[in-house]
Amino acid sequence: MNKTVSINFQTAPSGYAVEIGRDRLTTSGDWAKACRGGKAGKAALVSNPKVFGLYGEEVKTSLQNAGFDVFVCLIGDGERFKSFKTLQKTLDIFSENRLSRTDVVIALGGGVVGDLAGFAASIYLRGVAFLQMPTTLLSMIDSSVGGKTGVNSSYGKNLIGAFYQPKGVLVDVQTLKTLPKRELTAGFCEAIKQGAIANRQLFDQTAVFLDTFQPRSFVRLFDDDDDLVRSLISLLREQIAFKAKIVANDERESPDKIDAKSRKILNFGHTFAHALEKVTNYRYLKHGEAVGYGICFAAELSKKLGLLSPNKVNLLNDVVHRAGVLPPISSIDPRIIFETFKFDKKLVNNSLQWILLKDVGKPVIFPHSDVPQSALMSAFKNITRS
Ligand code: NAD
Ligand code: GLY
Repeated sequence: MNKTVSINFQTAPSGYAVEIGRDRLTTSGDWAKACRGGKAGKAALVSNPKVFGLYGEEVKTSLQNAGFDVFVCLIGDGERFKSFKTLQKTLDIFSENRLSRTDVVIALGGGVVGDLAGFAASIYLRGVAFLQMPTTLLSMIDSSVGGKTGVNSSYGKNLIGAFYQPKGVLVDVQTLKTLPKRELTAGFCEAIKQGAIANRQLFDQTAVFLDTFQPRSFVRLFDDDDDLVRSLISLLREQIAFKAKIVANDERESPDKIDAKSRKILNFGHTFAHALEKVTNYRYLKHGEAVGYGICFAAELSKKLGLLSPNKVNLLNDVVHRAGVLPPISSIDPRIIFETFKFDKKLVNNSLQWILLKDVGKPVIFPHSDVPQSALMSAFKNITRS
């Protein structure tokens, strides 16, 4: 089952395709060359030691066979390496290897590698071409598509960055075979987030997938289950198509757009998630796990504010729990988490905007000033109760 599906992203000044298939790394060189209009040139292959150890040589060989002159740039593994320091080292490696404006930066890895490599590509020589080869579920459905790139600062996550679209994205689902279980759970939490704000169809497709193929049995099933691969490619296609639609409508997340089609709605669950990650020093929780809590928190808050029915809150909680077990957070003082909301990058006119739900597929943007502290506290108590 090697069928590849393709989704087009309509972005300015020109769009790009996201290709999704199985066993695509061996021909990634030809794909990269096609994305560059048939030109090869020099390629900076950015990855981390773990991902490069698994897939790097295969990609490097394929790029070389397609005529690229490849140099490898490895960054540390983990959220703490999405930093200015790593960015500077990466840019230095580009310079040392004389990467030029007609060359290309290729990210091979998860969201950390993709966000950092994309930002480096956006500022190096005022912008060189960039390609994404995501290898985590989260990066396949979210971070590699849509053009948000950046690094964290000491004030919070993703505070420094640029909108910089790739020239192409290649998703090889076979790479998920080696992805640790916790990372699968994290990726599915982002998938549930997208389903929750998109529509009942995408939400149900995600929920049914999780019922049929639990992340814990994923790796074992992969080799001999074509149904899994077919369902996975179909789920990724729908997830990415939904994101493409939102990005086409509001590519740069305009501060003035506050309707249900605004790009801001993709941040559902993220206000709480980013604060949670920050207070735990980006080390305790995976980003997607924090989003899992963020979904449950936003659902509880929506209920407290009279927007969402208790049944829908239970449904959202249930599906998040199908994705896997989240590390406990009940010992964290919620007041410290709430204090961190001040640094949320989605502040508009210095005021925080919550993405809440009226129903599955019906997001609303809600001003923080209308949310009583007691509602925040009660939502925290409810999500940490069990
Ligand atoms: P990650 O990049 O840290 O990868 C998770 C772990 O999986 C790492 O240890 C990595 O080495 C390992 N790994 C990657 N691929 C593997 C594979 N195929 N097999 C085995 N191990 C593999 O985490 P992530 O969840 O991919 O990305 C999280 C980052 O993405 C965060 O920094 C978050 O802010 C960012 N993000 C960005 C956007 C965006 O729009 N740009 C959207 C969502 C998240
Ligand atoms: N992950 C949120 C966005 O791409 O806008």
